Amino acid sequence: MEIKDLLREPLKGFTAYKPGGKKVKVREGVEEIIQLNANENQLGPSPKAIEAMKEATEISQFYPFTFGQLEEVRQIFADYHGVSADNIMITAGSGGIISAFGEIFLNPGDEVVSCEPTYDSYKAMVNRYGAKFIAAPLKNYGYDLEAMLELITEKTKLAVIVNPNNPTGTLLTNQELDDFMDKVPDHVIVVIDEAYFEWIGDKNYQSAIKYVKEGKKIAVLRTFSKLYGMAGVRIGYGIMLSDICKEMRNVEWNYGPSRIGLAGAVAAIQDEEYIERSLDNNTKGRAFLTKVLEEAGFDVVKSYASFIYFYPNGFTSDELVDKLGSYGVIIRAFKEYTRVSVGIPRQNAIFAETLKKVLKND
Ligand SMILES: Cc1ncc(COP(=O)(O)O)c(C=O)c1O
Repeated sequence: MEIKDLLREPLKGFTAYKPGGKKVKVREGVEEIIQLNANENQLGPSPKAIEAMKEATEISQFYPFTFGQLEEVRQIFADYHGVSADNIMITAGSGGIISAFGEIFLNPGDEVVSCEPTYDSYKAMVNRYGAKFIAAPLKNYGYDLEAMLELITEKTKLAVIVNPNNPTGTLLTNQELDDFMDKVPDHVIVVIDEAYFEWIGDKNYQSAIKYVKEGKKIAVLRTFSKLYGMAGVRIGYGIMLSDICKEMRNVEWNYGPSRIGLAGAVAAIQDEEYIERSLDNNTKGRAFLTKVLEEAGFDVVKSYASFIYFYPNGFTSDELVDKLGSYGVIIRAFKEYTRVSVGIPRQNAIFAETLKKVLKND
């Protein structure tokens, strides 16, 4: 018997989500590789988070629950968002929450509605459990919530909305979300992924956490992988209705965070100076890259996140990714579109120069 024959049924034809996109061939002599393909914050973690993580390594013989560390951090996140610790689940990256949703709620044949293209990990999670991912196309590159409502049936368990969306960087209005939440049927749990929320930079824009406070059947996902520059540390969390959280936390151990990561996360959310610096770098870098791409004749989608989605007129997306990649500038193809993550000024400048070379066919 082959190992493949022993797999759970849904995994027999399963293709895993591949973070970062395809591998490119870098030409000889290229000394520096610039990774602008995975929406990482190139500033790196806050110095205070690094210090806290170093300190935590010295007591890393202890599990995260020992001395109540995990409970303490749940309370800190709860206070930060003005909710109760019963609303908070912390995992190794917000991908942990995404996986736990599959394990806790999805039977084969269940349906999950969303829009496409969006963060591919959701489709992969749904397929892992033999459920069906049913997605409406985006409208003007953004989520089409009316179309999503029409896809909901009695088999729908989850409605997934990524806001701002990845890979397009678009943002829903608060009114659009309010209308959706008013209309969504009672048997559906709404998952709103706010991995890129902090980059919006508009103090008047409201997080979907307000629906948790209103007692709606909802989970909101946040991560330390983006604004806080800690993608390698693997800390994410969900803010959700306490009844959902209680069921989700039954599998917490499978997806749990590390003691070191928890220590870093607590220091990171308190480092105002770092947060300001990150936001400033992103806002300026996003404006710079938008201009560079527009001057290259590409169609650019307005971004509210830490990356830019564009149509590379004159190239196929794969072609452009390969050509830039050959000079060591790594970005990502999404079918006919392309996405570049915002870097630090030096990296953005190298991207701009390299793009010029590619356009001149050097
Ligand atoms: C929309 C979205 N959600 C979640 C994640 C997962 O992030 P992490 O598991 O690092 O928290 C990503 C990563 O790129 C993302 O783009």
